[in-house]
Amino acid sequence: MLLIRNKTVLILSLSALTGLSTSCKHDPKEIPEVGIEKAEPTPLIIEVPQGIPPLPVPEENPLTIEGVALGRKLFYDERLSKDQTQSCASCHIDEHGYADSNRFSIGVEGLSGSRNAMAITNLAYAPGFFWDGRAKTLEIQALEPVPNPLEMNLSWPVALERLNADEKYREEFKLVFGVDWIDSIDVAKAIAQFERTMISGNSKYDKFKRGQAEFTPLELEGLDLFRTESADCFHCHAEPLFMGFEYLSNGVQGEITDLGLGGITGRPQDMGLFKPPTLRNIEYTAPYMHDGRFNTLEEVVEFYNSGVHVDEVNVSPLMKKSNRFNGDLDLTPRQKEALVAFLKTLSDEDFIKNPDFQDPDK
Ligand code: HEC
Ligand code: HEC
Repeated sequence: MLLIRNKTVLILSLSALTGLSTSCKHDPKEIPEVGIEKAEPTPLIIEVPQGIPPLPVPEENPLTIEGVALGRKLFYDERLSKDQTQSCASCHIDEHGYADSNRFSIGVEGLSGSRNAMAITNLAYAPGFFWDGRAKTLEIQALEPVPNPLEMNLSWPVALERLNADEKYREEFKLVFGVDWIDSIDVAKAIAQFERTMISGNSKYDKFKRGQAEFTPLELEGLDLFRTESADCFHCHAEPLFMGFEYLSNGVQGEITDLGLGGITGRPQDMGLFKPPTLRNIEYTAPYMHDGRFNTLEEVVEFYNSGVHVDEVNVSPLMKKSNRFNGDLDLTPRQKEALVAFLKTLSDEDFIKNPDFQDPDK
């Protein structure tokens, strides 16, 4: 039985419901009235699109239908910001691939940081969060934006007062986490559940891999450049997720002004290292790099072609390989065009338009 609109992605596991069928009740929330101890949320099993790895879900925070719905509501709730004007979705915007088109997002106090907002896409697979990897899990990540003075700037105690004053939220948290009082850990868990369902796997590239779409000669050429030593992108943005699993320097800074991972660990060998983000939906998520320095994919490709600072301390050895002369790839104009054409095959309209990820109140 499919209960959720995005039928290719979300499938309800019936295991929880079958146990209830003997009670002649259809709504699990009605269970307490018939004398069973407490209502349980409904386990959710995500069936990912073909070609995407099975979804990793931590044991401590299993997905449930109600948990994901609660996380989605919180993600769009402006009450989580000081002046109640900003939600997570203010900087993670659907049509921009759940990133921000501003170079630096502006928080509720009108202040901005020095980093570009990151895309929320396939994050269940990522080993760490933020450009510098300072959050190890999505749950830990979700605790940061609310009190961050450059973002929502609301202390957790005040945020929790607001949430606990809302009877509906109290009921929802009770059902999902079995708690009478909402705390920040459970808020973060709900948001993380929602984010894990934000899976993109229906781009032209995916359809091509499944034999459902054809690439143009230019796109094919781009794919070949991408996944061979010719342009050598695949080492750090590996198929099929196109994200990196280690922190690296692609030599974008030259002189290091943002320490990246090194700012967290303090280790000299980590200075200037960043998370290679997913390239899925990259067409929508401009501007690019941790500091949003490039506005177009053409600029990004030109950077890799001729602008890499090979002398940057800790630059990845991959940026200096023998196919590169002083970091240059020497791509022809046609090859650069092909790479950009290929990158655009990673655009997944079904993802950015998926109603299950959008504001539940609209
Ligand atoms: C004012 C803008 C703003 C708001 C509001 C905001 N974010 Fe972000 N988000 C950012 C920026 C900027 C970064 C990158 C910061 C960094 O790396 O230091 C980011 C990074 C992230 C990441 C890391 C993604 C990755 O690939 O590692 C996640 C997840 C995320 N935000 C989720 C949220 C959630 C959940 C909320 C609401 C509770 C939220 N954000 C609110 C701007 C914002
Ligand atoms: C040595 C590893 C490495 C290689 C090889 C590499 N990248 Fe990257 N890429 C990164 C890292 C690390 C970042 C983030 C850097 C930063 O923001 O400082 C990044 C960022 C990007 C971004 C910006 C993403 C965003 O959301 O802002 C794009 C686009 C990109 N790379 C495309 C490519 C292409 C195309 C190639 C091949 C020509 C390539 N990369 C090769 C490591 C690599």
